[in-house]
Amino acid sequence: MSTEEKIYFTYNQIHNTIQKLSKQIIASGYDPDLIVAIGTGGFIPARIIKTYISKPILTVGLRLYDANNKPKAAPEKIQWIDEVEKKLKGKKILLVDEVDDSRVTLEYCLRELLSDEPAEIAVAVLHNKNKEKRGTIPEEVKQYWAGEELEDKWICYPWDAVDIDKHGL
Ligand code: G4P
Ligand code: MG
Repeated sequence: MSTEEKIYFTYNQIHNTIQKLSKQIIASGYDPDLIVAIGTGGFIPARIIKTYISKPILTVGLRLYDANNKPKAAPEKIQWIDEVEKKLKGKKILLVDEVDDSRVTLEYCLRELLSDEPAEIAVAVLHNKNKEKRGTIPEEVKQYWAGEELEDKWICYPWDAVDIDKHGL
């Protein structure tokens, strides 16, 4: 993949996008009891959302790509705490991830969380890629926000940078 096919974002750009995203969520009237971050990509976005929507963050760990960067047949649960499941029942959840790409991980995670009988789940992603999706957002999920709509290119996040001073240069 050449650099033309990649998009780089800085921490500041991401923070600003999340500020706008959080304002949209607040303006909608959705007032979650809990934030659930999908790790690892959703950890930092969820923490920034908490600056604007100050609710406790629970985390679940899911991985679609293997050690050789090949997509697995289904997302793998890295961490799925029983404690989390108990805490979701009857609660309003804001599920956060960094990118809505194929939607496979998002759908898997939403279906798992819906089985814990939350009162409501809404989704917030930092970036949505405009592309044909393999996964679908279950119809029980009434609200979905994306901080920014992007073309289907590989996004380079600052937290993946080995040398942050050279990120995007
Ligand atoms: P989706 O449901 O949210 O659309 O995700 P999908 O299953 O398509 O794939 C999710 C995995 O792919 C995530 O990593 C996500 O970080 C990664 N991914 C997809 N597109 C991009 C991109 O443009 N840039 C980067 N940096 N990552 C991307 P994962 O394997 O689930 O684990 P983790 O990296 O979050 O730990
Ligand atoms: Mg991710």
